[in-house]
Amino acid sequence: MTEGIEKETAPGNGALTVATAPAPRTRTEQAAEKRGAALRVEGAGITFGDFRAVQNIDLDIPAGEFLCLLGPSGCGKSTLLSAMAGFIQVSEGSLTADGVPVSGPDPELGMVFQSSEALFDWMTVHQNVTFGPRMRGCSRAEQDRVADEFLGLVGLRHCADRYPGQLSGGMRQRVQIARVLANEPGVVLMDEPFGALDAQTRQVLQQETARIWRSSGCTVVFVTHDIDEAILLADRVAVMTAGPAASIKSLYTVDLPRPRDESDPAALRLRNKLREDIGEEVRKAMRDQGLDDQLDREAKGA
Ligand SMILES: Nc1ncnc2c1ncn2[C@@H]1O[C@H](COP(=O)(O)OP(=O)(O)OP(=O)(O)O)[C@@H](O)[C@H]1O
Ligand SMILES: [Mg+2]
Repeated sequence: MTEGIEKETAPGNGALTVATAPAPRTRTEQAAEKRGAALRVEGAGITFGDFRAVQNIDLDIPAGEFLCLLGPSGCGKSTLLSAMAGFIQVSEGSLTADGVPVSGPDPELGMVFQSSEALFDWMTVHQNVTFGPRMRGCSRAEQDRVADEFLGLVGLRHCADRYPGQLSGGMRQRVQIARVLANEPGVVLMDEPFGALDAQTRQVLQQETARIWRSSGCTVVFVTHDIDEAILLADRVAVMTAGPAASIKSLYTVDLPRPRDESDPAALRLRNKLREDIGEEVRKAMRDQGLDDQLDREAKGA
C-alpha cells in the first residue's frame, strides 16, 4: 500500500530540493521499470508416454505476481514449472507468456532448478553467473559488475574464482539463483530453491528474493513445501492435488501487508487452511502408494 503512495508522490509542490547527484543505480534498480510477463495456463495437461502427470491446469498469473505452488511430493510441481520454462511442452491445452505460446527455453523465462547440478561444472562461479550476459555480448567490465552485484546478493563474492565442485550444496544453489537473476528475466521460476539451505541463510535469501521481486517487477512462480515460506512471499498460493493427473485444488490470495507478520491472525488462518488442503492430498497420495499403515500409526501417535 505504502509503495503505491510513494510512487505516486509527484515532485514539486514545495517538495524539498536535494542538490546532490543521485547515486548510481544498481542493475536491479534499473530493471524496476521492466515489468514481468503474464503467464496463462489454460486447460493444460502434460503426459510422459502413457503417464498423465498433470491435467486441466488453469492458472492466470498476471505480470509481476508472486505465485507460490504447493502440493504433495510427486504431484507434478516441477513438471508444471518445466513447462512454464519451455523445457517440456504441454500435451493439451495452452501455456503462454504475454500471449505468446511457450514453445522452448527463452532467456526471459529463468529457471532455478530443484537440484544445483544445473551449474556448469567446468566454469568458475564468476563464469557461471556471467554466462547469460556473456552470451548477450556484454563487455568484460559489465560482466564483472553483474557478477559483483548478484554474487554479493547471495553472499558469495569471495567464491567467484572457485568451481561448483568446490562448493557446498547450499552454496551451489545460491550460485544458481545468482546466475538466473543476472539475466534479469521477466519470469523467474524457482523450484524449491531454498530446500538445501540452513534456516538462517534461507531467511536471508527469502528476504532478498522478496526485495528483488519488488524492485525488478518480475513475475515469480515459486515451488515450495514450506507453508510459512509461501505465506511470507506470495501474492497468491496455489495448492495442487495429489497425482497422477494432478490439477489445482485451491487458490488463495494472501491479503496481508508486507513485510509479513507470521503471527497475524489472518496468516494463522491461512496456514491452517493450507495445512488442511495439503494434508488431504498427502493422505490421498500415501493411500495410493499403499502407505495407509504408516498413516494409521501416525494417527495413533505411534
Ligand atoms: N521425464 C519424466 N518421465 C516420466 N515421468 C516423469 C518425468 N518427469 C516427471 N515424471 C513423473 O511425473 C510426476 C510428477 O513429478 P514432479 O517431479 O513434477 O513432482 P513434484 O511435485 O515436483 O515432486 P517433488 O515435490 O518431490 O519435487 C511423478 O510421478 C514423476 O515420476
Ligand atoms: Mg519437484
